[in-house]
Amino acid sequence: MALQNTNPSGTQAWHELRGHFAEMQFATLQEMFATDPLRAEKFHIKWQDFLVDYSKNIINEKTLQLLQQLANEVDLRGAMESYFGGDDINRTEGRAVLHTALRAPETAVIKVDGENVMPEVYQVKHKIKQFTDAVIGGEKKGYTGKPFTHIVNIGIGGSDLGPNMVVEALKFYANQLDVRFISNVDGDHVAESLKGLDPETTLFVIVSKTFTTQETLSNAETAREWFLKSASQDDVAKHFVAVSTNIEKVTGFGIHEDNIFPMWDWVGGRFSLWSAVGLSIALAVGYDNFDNLLKGAHQMDEHFRTAEFEENIPVIMALLSIWYNNFFDAESEALIPYTQYLQKLAPYLQQGIMESNGKSVGRDGNPVNYQTGTIIWGEPGTNSQHAFFQLIHQGTKLIPTDFIGFVKSLHGDQDHHDKLMSNFFAQTEALLSGKTEAQVKAEFDKAGITGEKAAYLTPFKIFRGNKPTNTLLIDKLTPQSLGSLIALYEHKIFVQGVIWNIFSYDQWGVELGKQLANSILGEIQGGEVKEHDSSTEFLLQEFLKKR
Ligand code: F6P
Repeated sequence: MALQNTNPSGTQAWHELRGHFAEMQFATLQEMFATDPLRAEKFHIKWQDFLVDYSKNIINEKTLQLLQQLANEVDLRGAMESYFGGDDINRTEGRAVLHTALRAPETAVIKVDGENVMPEVYQVKHKIKQFTDAVIGGEKKGYTGKPFTHIVNIGIGGSDLGPNMVVEALKFYANQLDVRFISNVDGDHVAESLKGLDPETTLFVIVSKTFTTQETLSNAETAREWFLKSASQDDVAKHFVAVSTNIEKVTGFGIHEDNIFPMWDWVGGRFSLWSAVGLSIALAVGYDNFDNLLKGAHQMDEHFRTAEFEENIPVIMALLSIWYNNFFDAESEALIPYTQYLQKLAPYLQQGIMESNGKSVGRDGNPVNYQTGTIIWGEPGTNSQHAFFQLIHQGTKLIPTDFIGFVKSLHGDQDHHDKLMSNFFAQTEALLSGKTEAQVKAEFDKAGITGEKAAYLTPFKIFRGNKPTNTLLIDKLTPQSLGSLIALYEHKIFVQGVIWNIFSYDQWGVELGKQLANSILGEIQGGEVKEHDSSTEFLLQEFLKKR
Protein backbone atom coordinates (compact mmCIF):
# COMPACT_ATOMS: atom_id res chain seq x y z
CA MET A 1 0.00 0.00 0.00
CA ALA A 2 1.34 3.43 -0.95
CA LEU A 3 1.75 6.06 1.70
CA GLN A 4 -1.18 8.45 1.92
CA ASN A 5 -0.60 11.72 0.12
CA THR A 6 -1.70 14.56 2.38
CA ASN A 7 -0.33 18.06 2.53
CA PRO A 8 0.01 18.47 6.32
CA SER A 9 -0.50 22.21 6.11
CA GLY A 10 -3.99 21.60 4.74
CA THR A 11 -5.12 19.46 7.67
CA GLN A 12 -7.51 20.58 10.37
CA ALA A 13 -4.87 19.81 13.00
CA TRP A 14 -2.29 22.05 11.30
CA HIS A 15 -4.84 24.87 11.13
CA GLU A 16 -5.60 24.46 14.83
CA LEU A 17 -1.90 24.17 15.67
CA ARG A 18 -1.37 27.58 14.05
CA GLY A 19 -4.00 29.08 16.31
CA HIS A 20 -2.60 27.23 19.29
CA PHE A 21 0.91 28.45 18.49
CA ALA A 22 -0.33 32.04 18.60
CA GLU A 23 -1.11 31.41 22.29
CA MET A 24 1.87 29.23 23.11
CA GLN A 25 4.59 31.37 21.59
CA PHE A 26 4.39 33.63 24.63
CA ALA A 27 4.10 30.83 27.19
CA THR A 28 7.16 30.25 29.29
CA LEU A 29 8.48 27.04 30.73
CA GLN A 30 9.19 28.84 33.98
CA GLU A 31 5.51 29.74 34.35
CA MET A 32 4.26 26.34 33.27
CA PHE A 33 6.48 24.59 35.81
CA ALA A 34 5.52 27.05 38.52
CA THR A 35 1.80 26.51 38.00
CA ASP A 36 1.82 22.75 37.49
CA PRO A 37 3.72 20.67 40.03
CA LEU A 38 2.74 17.50 38.13
CA ARG A 39 4.32 18.58 34.87
CA ALA A 40 7.26 16.14 34.94
CA GLU A 41 4.87 13.39 36.04
CA LYS A 42 2.64 14.09 33.02
CA PHE A 43 5.26 14.53 30.33
CA HIS A 44 7.59 11.60 30.58
CA ILE A 45 7.76 8.05 29.25
CA LYS A 46 9.38 5.11 31.01
CA TRP A 47 10.21 2.21 28.76
CA GLN A 48 12.58 -0.63 29.66
CA ASP A 49 15.78 1.04 30.86
CA PHE A 50 14.88 4.38 29.19
CA LEU A 51 13.39 7.41 30.91
CA VAL A 52 12.40 10.13 28.46
CA ASP A 53 11.47 13.37 30.16
CA TYR A 54 9.96 15.79 27.65
CA SER A 55 8.39 18.11 30.20
CA LYS A 56 10.95 20.85 29.47
CA ASN A 57 9.23 21.62 26.15
CA ILE A 58 7.00 24.58 25.34
CA ILE A 59 3.90 22.45 25.22
CA ASN A 60 0.77 21.68 27.15
CA GLU A 61 -1.81 18.90 26.89
CA LYS A 62 -3.53 20.64 24.02
CA THR A 63 -0.29 20.85 22.03
CA LEU A 64 0.17 17.12 22.33
CA GLN A 65 -3.41 16.39 21.51
CA LEU A 66 -3.26 18.51 18.33
CA LEU A 67 0.07 17.03 17.26
CA GLN A 68 -1.36 13.53 17.67
CA GLN A 69 -4.41 14.60 15.70
CA LEU A 70 -2.01 15.67 12.95
CA ALA A 71 -0.42 12.22 13.04
CA ASN A 72 -3.87 10.66 12.73
CA GLU A 73 -4.95 12.91 9.90
CA VAL A 74 -1.93 11.90 7.80
CA ASP A 75 -2.60 8.25 8.71
CA LEU A 76 0.63 7.59 10.56
CA ARG A 77 -0.69 4.18 11.70
CA GLY A 78 -1.34 3.09 8.13
CA ALA A 79 2.10 4.33 7.11
CA MET A 80 3.68 2.31 9.94
CA GLU A 81 1.96 -0.83 8.68
CA SER A 82 3.33 -0.20 5.18
CA TYR A 83 6.81 0.43 6.60
CA PHE A 84 7.00 -2.74 8.68
CA GLY A 85 5.02 -4.74 6.13
CA GLY A 86 7.55 -4.32 3.31
CA ASP A 87 5.49 -2.11 0.97
CA ASP A 88 7.59 -0.14 -1.48
CA ILE A 89 7.41 3.09 0.51
CA ASN A 90 10.67 4.21 -1.13
CA ARG A 91 8.52 4.97 -4.17
CA THR A 92 10.98 6.92 -6.30
CA GLU A 93 13.36 3.96 -6.25
CA GLY A 94 10.60 1.34 -6.20
CA ARG A 95 11.86 -0.31 -3.02
CA ALA A 96 10.69 -1.46 0.37
CA VAL A 97 12.34 -0.01 3.49
CA LEU A 98 13.05 -2.98 5.71
CA HIS A 99 16.02 -2.40 7.96
CA THR A 100 13.61 -3.53 10.70
CA ALA A 101 13.63 -7.04 9.15
CA LEU A 102 17.36 -7.30 9.83
CA ARG A 103 16.70 -7.29 13.56
CA ALA A 104 13.45 -9.25 13.61
CA PRO A 105 13.44 -12.78 15.12
CA GLU A 106 14.14 -15.73 12.87
CA THR A 107 10.54 -16.89 13.16
CA ALA A 108 9.14 -13.66 11.72
CA VAL A 109 7.67 -13.69 8.24
CA ILE A 110 8.43 -10.51 6.33
CA LYS A 111 7.73 -10.49 2.64
CA VAL A 112 9.19 -8.48 -0.21
CA ASP A 113 7.39 -9.08 -3.52
CA GLY A 114 5.67 -12.07 -1.94
CA GLU A 115 8.91 -13.72 -0.78
CA ASN A 116 9.79 -14.15 2.90
CA VAL A 117 13.19 -12.48 3.36
CA MET A 118 13.92 -13.87 6.82
CA PRO A 119 15.67 -17.12 5.78
CA GLU A 120 18.13 -15.09 3.70
CA VAL A 121 18.64 -12.55 6.49
CA TYR A 122 19.55 -15.33 8.90
CA GLN A 123 21.78 -17.07 6.38
CA VAL A 124 23.88 -13.91 6.17
CA LYS A 125 23.80 -13.51 9.96
CA HIS A 126 25.22 -17.03 10.34
CA LYS A 127 27.90 -16.24 7.81
CA ILE A 128 28.82 -13.09 9.78
CA LYS A 129 28.99 -15.13 12.98
CA GLN A 130 31.17 -17.87 11.51
CA PHE A 131 33.53 -15.41 9.88
CA THR A 132 33.89 -13.06 12.84
CA ASP A 133 34.31 -15.93 15.33
CA ALA A 134 37.12 -17.32 13.18
CA VAL A 135 38.90 -13.97 12.81
CA ILE A 136 38.59 -13.08 16.50
CA GLY A 137 39.55 -16.59 17.58
CA GLY A 138 42.61 -16.50 15.32
CA GLU A 139 41.60 -19.58 13.27
CA LYS A 140 41.29 -17.44 10.17
CA LYS A 141 44.77 -16.34 9.26
CA GLY A 142 46.55 -14.07 6.84
CA TYR A 143 48.71 -15.16 3.92
CA THR A 144 51.76 -15.93 6.07
CA GLY A 145 49.78 -17.87 8.65
CA LYS A 146 49.54 -15.14 11.26
CA PRO A 147 46.23 -14.24 12.90
CA PHE A 148 44.71 -10.86 12.05
CA THR A 149 45.39 -7.93 14.37
CA HIS A 150 43.96 -5.01 12.35
CA ILE A 151 40.70 -4.54 10.47
CA VAL A 152 40.29 -1.69 7.97
CA ASN A 153 36.73 -0.81 6.95
CA ILE A 154 36.63 1.01 3.62
CA GLY A 155 33.30 2.65 2.81
CA ILE A 156 31.61 6.04 2.88
CA GLY A 157 28.25 7.52 3.98
CA GLY A 158 26.05 4.73 5.30
CA SER A 159 28.80 2.23 4.61
CA ASP A 160 31.07 4.03 7.07
CA LEU A 161 29.19 6.28 9.48
CA GLY A 162 27.06 3.60 11.14
CA PRO A 163 29.75 0.96 11.80
CA ASN A 164 32.24 3.71 12.67
CA MET A 165 29.88 5.24 15.22
CA VAL A 166 28.96 1.90 16.81
CA VAL A 167 32.54 0.62 17.01
CA GLU A 168 33.44 3.83 18.85
CA ALA A 169 30.31 3.65 21.03
CA LEU A 170 30.99 0.05 22.08
CA LYS A 171 34.74 0.37 22.59
CA PHE A 172 34.25 -0.74 26.19
CA TYR A 173 33.08 -4.14 24.88
CA ALA A 174 35.83 -4.46 22.26
CA ASN A 175 38.24 -7.36 21.87
CA GLN A 176 41.89 -7.33 20.79
CA LEU A 177 41.32 -6.33 17.15
CA ASP A 178 42.18 -2.78 16.14
CA VAL A 179 39.42 -1.55 13.80
CA ARG A 180 40.02 1.48 11.57
CA PHE A 181 37.87 3.31 9.05
CA ILE A 182 38.82 4.89 5.75
CA SER A 183 36.12 6.91 4.00
CA ASN A 184 37.35 10.12 2.38
CA VAL A 185 38.73 10.01 -1.15
CA ASP A 186 41.38 12.36 0.22
CA GLY A 187 44.60 10.38 -0.29
CA ASP A 188 45.95 11.75 2.97
CA HIS A 189 43.19 9.87 4.82
CA VAL A 190 44.23 6.49 3.33
CA ALA A 191 47.91 7.26 3.81
CA GLU A 192 47.44 8.13 7.49
CA SER A 193 45.18 5.14 8.11
CA LEU A 194 47.57 2.64 6.56
CA LYS A 195 50.49 3.96 8.62
CA GLY A 196 51.93 1.36 10.96
CA LEU A 197 49.87 -1.52 9.53
CA ASP A 198 51.39 -4.89 8.71
CA PRO A 199 49.99 -6.39 5.48
CA GLU A 200 50.44 -9.89 6.94
CA THR A 201 47.95 -9.20 9.74
CA THR A 202 45.55 -6.67 8.18
CA LEU A 203 42.09 -7.57 6.95
CA PHE A 204 40.24 -5.14 4.64
CA VAL A 205 36.46 -4.98 4.66
CA ILE A 206 35.24 -3.14 1.56
CA VAL A 207 31.70 -1.92 2.14
CA SER A 208 29.67 -0.48 -0.68
CA LYS A 209 26.05 -1.29 -1.34
CA THR A 210 26.42 -0.36 -5.01
CA PHE A 211 30.15 -1.03 -5.39
CA THR A 212 30.27 1.94 -7.75
CA THR A 213 31.10 4.68 -5.24
CA GLN A 214 34.19 6.56 -6.40
CA GLU A 215 35.61 7.17 -2.92
CA THR A 216 35.33 3.56 -1.81
CA LEU A 217 36.66 2.03 -5.01
CA SER A 218 39.64 4.43 -5.08
CA ASN A 219 40.47 3.70 -1.46
CA ALA A 220 40.06 -0.05 -1.99
CA GLU A 221 42.39 0.07 -4.99
CA THR A 222 44.99 2.03 -3.02
CA ALA A 223 44.73 -0.47 -0.17
CA ARG A 224 45.16 -3.36 -2.61
CA GLU A 225 48.23 -1.69 -4.18
CA TRP A 226 49.68 -1.20 -0.72
CA PHE A 227 48.99 -4.86 0.11
CA LEU A 228 50.49 -6.12 -3.16
CA LYS A 229 53.80 -4.46 -2.35
CA SER A 230 54.32 -7.33 0.11
CA ALA A 231 51.96 -10.06 -1.06
CA SER A 232 50.84 -11.70 -4.28
CA GLN A 233 47.57 -11.41 -6.21
CA ASP A 234 46.48 -14.84 -4.89
CA ASP A 235 46.79 -13.58 -1.32
CA VAL A 236 44.16 -10.88 -1.94
CA ALA A 237 41.42 -13.47 -1.36
CA LYS A 238 42.63 -13.99 2.22
CA HIS A 239 42.83 -10.30 3.10
CA PHE A 240 39.92 -8.62 1.29
CA VAL A 241 36.24 -9.22 1.96
CA ALA A 242 33.30 -7.18 0.71
CA VAL A 243 29.78 -6.22 1.72
CA SER A 244 27.62 -5.35 -1.26
CA THR A 245 24.51 -6.00 -3.34
CA ASN A 246 26.62 -5.91 -6.49
CA ILE A 247 28.25 -9.36 -6.65
CA GLU A 248 29.44 -8.94 -10.22
CA LYS A 249 31.39 -5.74 -9.50
CA VAL A 250 32.90 -7.21 -6.33
CA THR A 251 34.21 -10.31 -8.07
CA GLY A 252 35.48 -8.03 -10.85
CA PHE A 253 37.54 -6.27 -8.22
CA GLY A 254 39.18 -9.60 -7.36
CA ILE A 255 37.33 -10.54 -4.22
CA HIS A 256 36.37 -14.20 -4.03
CA GLU A 257 32.64 -14.94 -4.05
CA ASP A 258 32.93 -16.76 -0.69
CA ASN A 259 34.21 -13.52 0.80
CA ILE A 260 31.15 -11.49 -0.18
CA PHE A 261 28.58 -10.67 2.45
CA PRO A 262 25.40 -9.82 0.59
CA MET A 263 22.86 -7.14 1.43
CA TRP A 264 19.64 -6.16 -0.27
CA ASP A 265 18.26 -3.14 -2.06
CA TRP A 266 15.51 -2.87 0.57
CA VAL A 267 18.13 -1.78 3.10
CA GLY A 268 18.95 1.91 2.71
CA GLY A 269 22.64 2.83 3.10
CA ARG A 270 22.07 5.07 6.11
CA PHE A 271 20.03 2.35 7.84
CA SER A 272 22.36 -0.51 7.00
CA LEU A 273 24.54 -1.03 10.08
CA TRP A 274 22.20 -3.87 11.09
CA SER A 275 23.09 -5.81 7.94
CA ALA A 276 26.48 -7.20 6.92
CA VAL A 277 27.55 -3.53 6.76
CA GLY A 278 27.94 -4.10 10.50
CA LEU A 279 30.65 -6.71 9.88
CA SER A 280 33.30 -4.41 11.37
CA ILE A 281 31.10 -4.00 14.45
CA ALA A 282 30.86 -7.77 14.88
CA LEU A 283 34.64 -8.03 14.40
CA ALA A 284 35.29 -5.30 16.96
CA VAL A 285 32.95 -6.46 19.71
CA GLY A 286 32.14 -10.06 18.83
CA TYR A 287 29.01 -11.53 17.29
CA ASP A 288 27.02 -11.78 20.53
CA ASN A 289 27.38 -8.08 21.22
CA PHE A 290 26.43 -7.33 17.61
CA ASP A 291 23.36 -9.52 18.04
CA ASN A 292 22.43 -7.73 21.26
CA LEU A 293 22.63 -4.43 19.40
CA LEU A 294 20.10 -5.85 16.94
CA LYS A 295 17.92 -7.17 19.77
CA GLY A 296 17.81 -3.71 21.35
CA ALA A 297 16.77 -2.22 18.03
CA HIS A 298 14.05 -4.84 17.63
CA GLN A 299 12.69 -4.02 21.08
CA MET A 300 12.41 -0.38 20.03
CA ASP A 301 10.72 -1.47 16.79
CA GLU A 302 8.11 -3.32 18.84
CA HIS A 303 7.60 -0.36 21.15
CA PHE A 304 7.18 1.96 18.16
CA ARG A 305 4.80 -0.42 16.38
CA THR A 306 2.57 -1.15 19.33
CA ALA A 307 2.58 1.71 21.85
CA GLU A 308 -0.19 4.31 21.78
CA PHE A 309 1.04 7.61 20.38
CA GLU A 310 1.02 9.32 23.80
CA GLU A 311 3.32 6.58 25.17
CA ASN A 312 5.40 6.19 22.04
CA ILE A 313 8.93 7.63 22.33
CA PRO A 314 9.77 8.00 18.61
CA VAL A 315 6.31 9.44 17.86
CA ILE A 316 6.44 11.98 20.70
CA MET A 317 9.99 13.06 19.81
CA ALA A 318 9.06 13.43 16.15
CA LEU A 319 5.96 15.47 16.95
CA LEU A 320 7.87 17.79 19.27
CA SER A 321 10.45 18.34 16.57
CA ILE A 322 7.68 19.22 14.09
CA TRP A 323 6.21 21.65 16.62
CA TYR A 324 9.48 23.60 16.77
CA ASN A 325 10.42 23.24 13.10
CA ASN A 326 7.08 24.19 11.61
CA PHE A 327 5.55 26.51 14.16
CA PHE A 328 8.43 28.10 16.08
CA ASP A 329 10.57 28.18 12.89
CA ALA A 330 13.47 26.52 14.70
CA GLU A 331 15.90 25.44 12.00
CA SER A 332 18.22 23.13 13.84
CA GLU A 333 18.33 20.66 16.69
CA ALA A 334 21.28 19.77 18.86
CA LEU A 335 22.09 16.34 20.20
CA ILE A 336 24.33 16.17 23.23
CA PRO A 337 25.33 12.76 24.56
CA TYR A 338 26.95 12.83 27.99
CA THR A 339 29.41 10.07 27.19
CA GLN A 340 32.53 10.31 25.10
CA TYR A 341 31.68 6.91 23.62
CA LEU A 342 28.87 8.56 21.62
CA GLN A 343 31.10 11.21 20.06
CA LYS A 344 30.16 10.00 16.57
CA LEU A 345 26.40 9.85 17.14
CA ALA A 346 25.70 13.34 15.79
CA PRO A 347 27.70 12.89 12.56
CA TYR A 348 25.97 9.53 12.08
CA LEU A 349 22.52 11.02 12.58
CA GLN A 350 23.39 13.93 10.32
CA GLN A 351 23.29 11.50 7.42
CA GLY A 352 20.27 9.66 8.83
CA ILE A 353 18.23 12.78 9.37
CA MET A 354 19.45 15.20 6.73
CA GLU A 355 19.83 12.76 3.82
CA SER A 356 16.40 11.34 4.63
CA ASN A 357 14.32 14.40 5.27
CA GLY A 358 16.26 17.08 3.39
CA LYS A 359 13.59 17.15 0.67
CA SER A 360 11.49 19.94 -0.82
CA VAL A 361 9.15 18.02 -3.12
CA GLY A 362 6.05 16.45 -1.61
CA ARG A 363 4.81 12.94 -2.31
CA ASP A 364 2.43 14.51 -4.83
CA GLY A 365 5.40 15.73 -6.88
CA ASN A 366 4.84 19.39 -6.02
CA PRO A 367 7.12 21.71 -4.04
CA VAL A 368 6.18 21.73 -0.38
CA ASN A 369 4.92 24.96 1.17
CA TYR A 370 6.33 24.33 4.65
CA GLN A 371 9.69 23.53 6.19
CA THR A 372 10.95 19.94 6.20
CA GLY A 373 14.23 18.35 7.45
CA THR A 374 15.89 19.81 10.47
CA ILE A 375 19.60 20.51 10.68
CA ILE A 376 21.20 18.28 13.29
CA TRP A 377 24.46 18.88 15.07
CA GLY A 378 26.11 18.15 18.37
CA GLU A 379 29.09 17.02 20.39
CA PRO A 380 29.39 15.21 23.69
CA GLY A 381 28.93 17.05 26.94
CA THR A 382 30.82 18.47 28.73
CA ASN A 383 33.11 19.46 25.84
CA SER A 384 30.20 21.08 24.01
CA GLN A 385 29.43 23.25 27.04
CA HIS A 386 32.82 24.89 26.61
CA ALA A 387 32.35 25.25 22.87
CA PHE A 388 28.91 26.25 21.57
CA PHE A 389 26.54 26.22 24.53
CA GLN A 390 26.82 30.01 24.83
CA LEU A 391 24.73 30.30 21.67
CA ILE A 392 22.10 27.85 22.91
CA HIS A 393 21.79 29.74 26.22
CA GLN A 394 21.96 33.36 25.12
CA GLY A 395 21.94 33.45 21.32
CA THR A 396 19.02 34.65 19.20
CA LYS A 397 18.14 31.23 17.81
CA LEU A 398 15.85 28.62 19.28
CA ILE A 399 17.68 25.29 19.34
CA PRO A 400 15.70 22.39 20.82
CA THR A 401 18.26 20.03 22.31
CA ASP A 402 18.27 16.33 23.19
CA PHE A 403 20.37 15.41 26.21
CA ILE A 404 21.34 11.74 26.38
CA GLY A 405 22.88 10.49 29.61
CA PHE A 406 23.49 7.23 31.44
CA VAL A 407 22.90 6.39 35.09
CA LYS A 408 25.97 4.16 35.32
CA SER A 409 29.43 4.76 33.97
CA LEU A 410 31.17 1.87 32.26
CA HIS A 411 34.57 2.08 33.91
CA GLY A 412 32.90 2.85 37.22
CA ASP A 413 34.77 5.98 38.27
CA GLN A 414 31.94 7.38 40.38
CA ASP A 415 33.56 10.72 41.05
CA HIS A 416 33.98 11.48 37.34
CA HIS A 417 30.54 10.18 36.55
CA ASP A 418 28.86 12.27 39.25
CA LYS A 419 30.61 15.35 37.91
CA LEU A 420 29.59 14.50 34.35
CA MET A 421 25.98 13.89 35.29
CA SER A 422 25.71 16.97 37.48
CA ASN A 423 26.52 18.94 34.34
CA PHE A 424 23.94 16.94 32.40
CA PHE A 425 21.17 17.87 34.83
CA ALA A 426 22.43 21.43 35.39
CA GLN A 427 22.36 22.32 31.72
CA THR A 428 18.73 21.40 31.12
CA GLU A 429 17.77 23.21 34.31
CA ALA A 430 19.71 26.31 33.26
CA LEU A 431 18.17 26.21 29.78
CA LEU A 432 14.71 26.01 31.32
CA SER A 433 15.03 28.50 34.16
CA GLY A 434 17.57 31.01 32.92
CA LYS A 435 18.56 33.76 35.31
CA THR A 436 16.31 36.70 36.16
CA GLU A 437 17.29 40.30 36.76
CA ALA A 438 16.54 39.84 40.47
CA GLN A 439 18.89 36.86 40.64
CA VAL A 440 21.62 38.80 38.87
CA LYS A 441 21.12 41.69 41.30
CA ALA A 442 21.32 39.37 44.31
CA GLU A 443 24.58 37.91 42.96
CA PHE A 444 26.01 41.40 42.50
CA ASP A 445 24.97 42.42 46.01
CA LYS A 446 26.73 39.37 47.40
CA ALA A 447 29.86 40.08 45.39
CA GLY A 448 29.79 43.76 46.36
CA ILE A 449 29.22 44.96 42.78
CA THR A 450 27.05 48.04 42.86
CA GLY A 451 26.15 51.28 41.13
CA GLU A 452 26.99 51.95 37.48
CA LYS A 453 29.04 48.81 37.08
CA ALA A 454 26.16 46.62 38.28
CA ALA A 455 23.66 48.49 36.11
CA TYR A 456 25.94 48.15 33.07
CA LEU A 457 26.60 44.44 33.52
CA THR A 458 23.07 43.36 34.40
CA PRO A 459 21.62 42.86 30.86
CA PHE A 460 24.59 40.70 29.85
CA LYS A 461 24.18 38.44 32.84
CA ILE A 462 20.47 37.77 32.38
CA PHE A 463 19.54 34.41 30.78
CA ARG A 464 15.99 34.32 29.40
CA GLY A 465 15.83 30.55 29.77
CA ASN A 466 12.73 28.93 28.24
CA LYS A 467 14.89 26.80 25.94
CA PRO A 468 13.33 23.44 25.18
CA THR A 469 15.12 20.16 25.89
CA ASN A 470 14.40 16.44 25.96
CA THR A 471 16.22 14.36 28.54
CA LEU A 472 16.93 10.71 27.75
CA LEU A 473 18.24 9.03 30.85
CA ILE A 474 19.27 5.43 30.14
CA ASP A 475 20.59 2.97 32.73
CA LYS A 476 23.79 1.99 30.98
CA LEU A 477 25.44 2.15 27.57
CA THR A 478 25.21 -1.46 26.41
CA PRO A 479 24.94 -2.97 22.93
CA GLN A 480 21.24 -3.44 23.63
CA SER A 481 20.48 0.09 24.83
CA LEU A 482 22.53 1.53 21.98
CA GLY A 483 20.48 -0.52 19.50
CA SER A 484 17.27 0.85 21.00
CA LEU A 485 18.60 4.42 20.93
CA ILE A 486 19.59 4.26 17.25
CA ALA A 487 16.27 2.67 16.29
CA LEU A 488 14.46 5.42 18.20
CA TYR A 489 16.00 8.08 15.96
CA GLU A 490 15.39 5.98 12.84
CA HIS A 491 11.68 5.88 13.64
CA LYS A 492 11.63 9.58 14.47
CA ILE A 493 12.94 10.17 10.92
CA PHE A 494 10.17 7.98 9.51
CA VAL A 495 7.38 9.73 11.43
CA GLN A 496 8.58 13.15 10.35
CA GLY A 497 8.86 12.08 6.71
CA VAL A 498 5.30 10.72 6.81
CA ILE A 499 3.95 13.94 8.29
CA TRP A 500 5.93 16.19 5.94
CA ASN A 501 4.55 14.14 3.04
CA ILE A 502 8.00 13.53 1.56
CA PHE A 503 9.94 10.45 0.49
CA SER A 504 12.53 9.88 3.21
CA TYR A 505 14.36 6.95 1.69
CA ASP A 506 15.83 8.25 -1.56
CA GLN A 507 18.74 10.70 -1.93
CA TRP A 508 18.68 12.17 -5.41
CA GLY A 509 20.18 15.40 -4.09
CA VAL A 510 23.64 13.89 -3.74
CA GLU A 511 23.78 12.76 -7.39
CA LEU A 512 24.40 16.08 -9.18
CA GLY A 513 27.63 16.80 -7.34
CA LYS A 514 28.87 13.27 -8.12
CA GLN A 515 28.12 13.72 -11.85
CA LEU A 516 29.84 17.10 -12.04
CA ALA A 517 32.86 15.80 -10.08
CA ASN A 518 33.28 13.05 -12.66
CA SER A 519 33.35 15.44 -15.60
CA ILE A 520 35.62 17.92 -13.74
CA LEU A 521 38.00 15.06 -12.92
CA GLY A 522 38.33 14.42 -16.67
CA GLU A 523 39.14 18.09 -17.25
CA ILE A 524 41.71 18.21 -14.44
CA GLN A 525 43.43 15.05 -15.61
CA GLY A 526 43.26 16.12 -19.28
CA GLY A 527 44.57 19.58 -18.37
CA GLU A 528 41.79 21.35 -20.25
CA VAL A 529 39.02 23.34 -18.59
CA LYS A 530 35.68 23.24 -20.41
CA GLU A 531 32.80 25.67 -20.14
CA HIS A 532 31.49 26.39 -16.61
CA ASP A 533 30.15 29.41 -14.79
CA SER A 534 32.89 32.05 -14.64
CA SER A 535 33.71 31.39 -10.97
CA THR A 536 34.22 27.62 -11.40
CA GLU A 537 36.15 28.16 -14.62
CA PHE A 538 38.44 30.72 -12.95
CA LEU A 539 39.06 28.47 -9.93
CA LEU A 540 39.86 25.47 -12.13
CA GLN A 541 42.29 27.49 -14.26
CA GLU A 542 44.08 28.71 -11.12
CA PHE A 543 44.17 25.17 -9.70
CA LEU A 544 45.64 23.78 -12.92
CA LYS A 545 48.30 26.51 -13.04
CA LYS A 546 49.53 25.64 -9.54
CA ARG A 547 48.86 21.88 -9.50
O1 F6P B 1 25.88 9.80 -0.24
C1 F6P B 1 25.06 9.06 -1.07
C2 F6P B 1 25.11 7.58 -0.77
O2 F6P B 1 24.37 6.94 -1.75
C3 F6P B 1 24.59 7.22 0.63
O3 F6P B 1 23.23 7.15 0.70
C4 F6P B 1 25.30 5.93 0.86
O4 F6P B 1 25.27 5.60 2.21
C5 F6P B 1 26.68 6.27 0.35
O5 F6P B 1 26.44 7.07 -0.79
C6 F6P B 1 27.57 5.11 0.02
O6 F6P B 1 27.04 4.29 -0.97
P1 F6P B 1 27.57 2.82 -1.26
O7 F6P B 1 27.35 2.01 -0.02
O8 F6P B 1 26.78 2.32 -2.42
O9 F6P B 1 29.03 2.93 -1.57
